[in-house]
Amino acid sequence: MTPLRRRSLLAAPAALLPLARALAAAGPDAPEPDAPVPETPGLAAHAAARRRFYGSALYEDALAADPGLLAHVRAECGMLVGEYSFKWASLQPQPGVFRFATAETLMAFAAANRQRVRGHTLVWHEANPQWLLDRLAPATGERLLTGYIAAVAGHFRGRLVHWDVVNEPIHPEDGPPFGLRDTPWLRALGPGYLDLAFHACAAADPGALRMINEFGGDYAIDWQQRRRDKLLELLAHLLARGVPVQAVGLQAHLDAGERALNQTVLARFVADIASLGLKVVVTELDVRDDGLPADIAVRDAAVAAHARAWLDAVLANPAVLGVLSWGLSDRRSWLDQRFPRADGLPQRPLPLDASLRRKPLWSAIAAALAGAPAP
Ligand code: G3I
Repeated sequence: MTPLRRRSLLAAPAALLPLARALAAAGPDAPEPDAPVPETPGLAAHAAARRRFYGSALYEDALAADPGLLAHVRAECGMLVGEYSFKWASLQPQPGVFRFATAETLMAFAAANRQRVRGHTLVWHEANPQWLLDRLAPATGERLLTGYIAAVAGHFRGRLVHWDVVNEPIHPEDGPPFGLRDTPWLRALGPGYLDLAFHACAAADPGALRMINEFGGDYAIDWQQRRRDKLLELLAHLLARGVPVQAVGLQAHLDAGERALNQTVLARFVADIASLGLKVVVTELDVRDDGLPADIAVRDAAVAAHARAWLDAVLANPAVLGVLSWGLSDRRSWLDQRFPRADGLPQRPLPLDASLRRKPLWSAIAAALAGAPAP
């Protein structure tokens, strides 16, 4: 299949893209074979040299299906987070039925490779099984929430470094106090659902760092400033009530086409979080390139420069414990479904390309980690 024909396939209407990509991948110019794992130190080593960590989300299908990717995950990552297997819909698909097998497969892989694991996530408005949403009400909410956390955080007790206890609670446009998102949890239990969740996690696994994980605080634009302000307000409110929040996850789903990256604003946000006595983790770093031209060298350079500027501002604060990207390789990213490029080309948001070769973004992360003051 000639490159031109392959590209025209990739420019097919969105509905046909999966087929177009499969055909393109099956052609004579299918992606090159997996690159070997480099001899030089991986990102985990660069991070550890400055007393931080680097890790990545791992989509659980890869554990059985992508040994090439796993070899690079071993080499690059000191920490892993499951992309799906630690979420309620995966762990408890039916009432009273817990399915830990997939999460435990990820735990076993990590243990075999001396990698730590962070839990993502106990309470969220997405990835909930339908039976839970059907049953969730003011009269049932506390028992459902605290019972689940006791069971799940208890199951992993002593084995996880972090829990994203509550994921993405902020959405100021919804109107409730503290900019809280209008979720089934808020509707059933009010703002106190956060108190219940954090106290339940502290009781079930006191050794896991308890975090609120949030997106959309990255740029000097009004709607994100409101998110930063409301998150800080919520954190201060929770801490004043004795809610045992210990850290904030900044998801860092960045956009290389966004020009409002302001290092002073970012540094102040991180300092404001730290001033509450909280730690910070960069939890889901990736960089959209759908606003950039098709040229790979241009995209890769812009993505790398954007991430470097963001990481330099954030890692300057000793409260920041480490960085995880939301995937290691462009081989798979949620961004291709959520923000597909108009030209149909796959995005290039992650440190390794689809053939597992290190990219300029890999070098940018390594340089930001190496150049940051050690905590
Ligand atoms: O594994 C099941 C499969 O058994 C089932 O047949 C299929 C039916 O739809 O679903 C499969 O699960 C999918 C799962 O990814 C594993 O691939 C879910 O449908 C799908 O909704 C889920 O999407 C994940 C999404 O969170 C929702 O949980 C994405 O992979 C994941 O990248 C995304 O990650 C989120 C973070 O958790 C929070 N921050 C934003 C980030 C991006 O949206």
